[in-house]
Amino acid sequence: MRLEGKSALITGSARGIGRAFAEAYAREGATVAIADIDLEAAEATAKAIGSAAYAVRLDVTDQASIEAAVKAVEARTGGLDILINNAAIFDLAPIVEITRASYEKLFSVNVAGTLFMLQAAARSMVARGRGGRIINMASQAGRRGEPLVAVYCATKAAVISLTQSAGLDLIKHRINVNGIAPGVVDSDMWDQVDALFAKYENRPKGEKKRLVGEGVPYGRMGKPEDLAGMAVFLASDEAEYIVAQTYNVDGGQWMS
Ligand SMILES: NC(=O)c1ccc[n+]([C@@H]2O[C@H](COP(=O)([O-])OP(=O)(O)OC[C@H]3O[C@@H](n4cnc5c(N)ncnc54)[C@H](O)[C@@H]3O)[C@@H](O)[C@H]2O)c1
Repeated sequence: MRLEGKSALITGSARGIGRAFAEAYAREGATVAIADIDLEAAEATAKAIGSAAYAVRLDVTDQASIEAAVKAVEARTGGLDILINNAAIFDLAPIVEITRASYEKLFSVNVAGTLFMLQAAARSMVARGRGGRIINMASQAGRRGEPLVAVYCATKAAVISLTQSAGLDLIKHRINVNGIAPGVVDSDMWDQVDALFAKYENRPKGEKKRLVGEGVPYGRMGKPEDLAGMAVFLASDEAEYIVAQTYNVDGGQWMS
């Protein structure tokens, strides 16, 4: 029960990696807001987790929605201790085909969503005066560019940079900001990634997913649960002295 009595908000936690985080946090004694743009799925996830979880509608691209979600957590639990900025979207295209609409959508969810969610959480934590923990979901895609994945890679590089700046700025309030950089994780997002690679690299469906899994030194793709240990650790007392870092949890794919 390393998070006993803590109140957490996890963006995009109706499914996938965020859901695995919410399940792990509930097991460790936290109360978790399943905050997602898909309220119906968030409600189903909260119900499956049980009384430690509750659903909150959240669109991280909408400032009013961000502020309302933080207020809902304050009203329900008395204050916010932990935020995981997990919601993100993916797209893929060769440089000569990238559209401004796709660029703006990805930066709006993945970068502005992370920054303004982090800001709203930090304001709430500073006002309460008890510090807090903020964990941002980066990616190995933020460590270097990739052909076809320019925009998503750039958003995740920005998340790593924001983690550093916010981490250095907020530690004086005893708010630790850190990040997690997964490699390839089997989720709905990767099904979308696979379908896009199938289109642009002219592959049968499922082939890219199989190949990337075989390329992981550990021997398989990650599962959402593989990341939960790091998310619990970064929110726990044991991580008190860790500031502005982004950790790779990727089966050995990337070293930096
Ligand atoms: N799956 C991977 O291989 C992988 C690898 C590296 C990093 N990541 C990162 O991990 C995180 C979770 O990925 P996942 O694979 O579980 O994704 P997913 O697509 O399965 O889940 C994303 C969730 O975010 C929600 N969401 C989307 N837009 C939103 C918005 N505007 N406001 C609130 N919620 C919104 C969706 O409804 C969904 O529940 C993301 O930040 C992703 O970039 C994933």
